Amino acid sequence: MGEAMLPLEARALTVRFNGHTAIEDVSFSLDGAMPAVILGANGAGKSVLLRVLHGLIAPTSGSVTWSGANERPRAQAMVFQRPVLLRRPALANIEYALAVNGIGGAERTARAREALERVGLSHLAHRQARVLSGGEQQRLALARASALRPRVLFLDEPTSSLDPTASADVERIVGEIRAGGTAIVMTTHNLGLAKRVAGEILFLHAGRLVERAPAQSFFNHPRSPEAAAFLEGELPWSVSSPA
Ligand SMILES: Nc1ncnc2c1ncn2[C@@H]1O[C@H](COP(=O)(O)OP(=O)(O)OP(=O)(O)O)[C@@H](O)[C@H]1O
Ligand SMILES: [Mg+2]
Repeated sequence: MGEAMLPLEARALTVRFNGHTAIEDVSFSLDGAMPAVILGANGAGKSVLLRVLHGLIAPTSGSVTWSGANERPRAQAMVFQRPVLLRRPALANIEYALAVNGIGGAERTARAREALERVGLSHLAHRQARVLSGGEQQRLALARASALRPRVLFLDEPTSSLDPTASADVERIVGEIRAGGTAIVMTTHNLGLAKRVAGEILFLHAGRLVERAPAQSFFNHPRSPEAAAFLEGELPWSVSSPA
């Protein structure tokens, strides 16, 4: 892990499901220097876009390339909107992910324990992952992703179902992961979270990248009417996607 692979280039990405367009002609480049937040209303296409970037969904057209290489590098990890944990104890969930990524022996155990420690779950190492609370599961998912020491970490609504204390914990942990040199790409519909975390904003509306700007200028002076309406709270839900 740790190959130089940024910037990530998304070129003319379009994703259709049975004629329904989820993402329409989205292009951008990410160099990982600042945390990038993909912001938009429910249904705007944020999760689909993140899955395409992570290589889990093939775009209907367009491409995602990492530093010119046309395949998914290993030095990336994703935390899903709903944590996907195995029917195993917490520690074993992390060890399994490390094993799948070719990390074995003493290093596997050490990294897994260190990752659990970082998210404050050492005392739950041997509890079944699926009986953990929602907040604990989210922290475990973060621990598992960060144990891979990815160059890029994709986070899909990492705090959407958490109480304020658990959300603050997750934000702090994300900050620590970032301080360790991992580039952060996060989706959210939560303005407060976006303001606290984002270096830059990619604003999605009905599957289109309507605006991209440094966070401060986005929040102070949105250029698109869609972003302005979203910031005013006039666009709580995405009404419809194009086509
Ligand atoms: N596998 C799929 N098959 C069909 N339609 C899909 C699929 N995945 C997503 N969609 C549709 O694509 C659109 C965008 O979904 P997406 O999950 O990306 O929204 P989102 O911006 O992440 O919303 P939220 O804020 O609610 O998480 C939605 O209309 C959704 O129903
Ligand atoms: Mg989503």
